[in-house]
Amino acid sequence: MSSLLDLALPFSRLFEAEDAHRLAIRALSLLPRPAQLADDPRLSVSAFGLHFRNPVGVAAGFDKNAEVPDAVLALGFGFAEAGTLTPKPQAGNPRPRVFRLLRDEGVINRLGFNNEGFHAAVARLSRRQPNGILGINVGANKDSEDRIADYVAGVETFSPYASYLTINVSSPNTPGLRDLQSAEVLNELIARILEARERMVQKGHGPKPVLLKIAPDVSLFDLDDIVAIARKRAIDGMIVSNTTVTRPASLRDGHAREQGGLSGRPLFDLSTKILAETYLRAEQAFPVVGVGGIDSAETAWKKIRAGATLVQLYTGMVYKGFGIAREIKSGLSRLLDRGKHRSIQDVVGADAVEAAAARESA
Ligand SMILES: Cc1cc2nc3c(=O)[nH]c(=O)nc-3n(C[C@H](O)[C@H](O)[C@H](O)COP(=O)(O)O)c2cc1C
Repeated sequence: MSSLLDLALPFSRLFEAEDAHRLAIRALSLLPRPAQLADDPRLSVSAFGLHFRNPVGVAAGFDKNAEVPDAVLALGFGFAEAGTLTPKPQAGNPRPRVFRLLRDEGVINRLGFNNEGFHAAVARLSRRQPNGILGINVGANKDSEDRIADYVAGVETFSPYASYLTINVSSPNTPGLRDLQSAEVLNELIARILEARERMVQKGHGPKPVLLKIAPDVSLFDLDDIVAIARKRAIDGMIVSNTTVTRPASLRDGHAREQGGLSGRPLFDLSTKILAETYLRAEQAFPVVGVGGIDSAETAWKKIRAGATLVQLYTGMVYKGFGIAREIKSGLSRLLDRGKHRSIQDVVGADAVEAAAARESA
C-alpha cells in the first residue's frame, strides 16, 4: 500500500496545495491498510499515563475532522492528533490559503480553523473502534463571544473519545486567539478546562490528559509565565510549537510574503529553541511534545535531545510522503545503536542547554 501512496506524492504536486491535501485524505480513507509491524521496543515511550509504541506522531491540521485517524496510525505513527475542531462548523478564510514554499521545504497556511465542527467529528468518532493513541485538538470559533466556553465544550465533548486533549491557543489565523497565551487569561482558561475535565471524570470519562499547544513566537518573558501557570495548575504536557508568523531571512520562495503561519524546514531552528526553553523551565514537571520542521530521523533526534519526549510532524509528510514515519523510526533505531543508548527516553533533553542557547540561523 505504501508504494501506492508514495506514488501519489509527486502526482499531488500537480494540484493546488489544498486540493492535494484533500486527495491525500481521500487516498488514506480508501486504500487498504498494511499489517502493523512491531516497533523497536527501545522506541516506546510512556508519557502522561499513556504508552506510545513509538514517539513519532502526526500533528494537528492534517486530519482536521477526524476522518482518517486509524489510517494515519497504520502508516506507522505512534499517535495521531485530529483537529483543530471548533464547536460550530466554520468555513475558514477565502482560498487560496495554503502555499507550498518548494524552494524552502516549508508551507504557509492561513486556513483559519476550517472544520466541520464538533457534531460531525463526534458522529465519526463514535463509530470508531479505538485502536491506538488519538489526541483531539480543540479551539474556539472565530465569532465566539466566550472563547473559554468553546474550549470547555471541547473538553466535555471529546473526553469520551480522545486519548488526550490539546488546547490550541496558538493558531495565528484566528484574530486574537493567541492573546489567550497571556498570563491572566491563560490561568483562567486552564482552571476552567480542568474543572470541565473533573466533571467528565464524574461521568466516567477520564481523567484525560490535557496538553497546551503554544506558538514559537512567544517572548521568553511570556514563556516564563506560561510554564509557571502550566506547572501550578499541573497540566499534563505542552506542545511546542505551532506555526510562526515570523519570516526567517533565509527564505527564498516567492510565496514567502504570503500571510499566515509558516511551517516545515524553516521553522525547525526557532521551534527547537523554544522547545528547549520550555523543557528547561518545566524541570520535568511534565513532558514536552516537540513539533516544527521534522522531516528525518536526524531532525527528530535533535528535537528529542532538545527536550521532546514525543515529536509530531505535518509539513515533513507533504515533502517526504507517507513513508516518513517508517523512515524516521528506522533512523532513530540506528542512532540509538550508534550511541549505545538503551532507550529513546534516555536521550530526552540531553542537549537542552545547548539548544536553548543556539542562535537561530534559519
Ligand atoms: C496546512 C496546515 C494546517 C494546520 N492546522 C493546524 C490546526 O488546525 N491546529 C493546530 O494546532 N495546528 C495546525 N497546524 C500546525 C501543525 O500542527 C504544526 O504545529 C506546525 O505545522 C509545525 O510542524 P511541521 O513543521 O511539522 O508542519 C497546521 C499546519 C499546517 C501546515
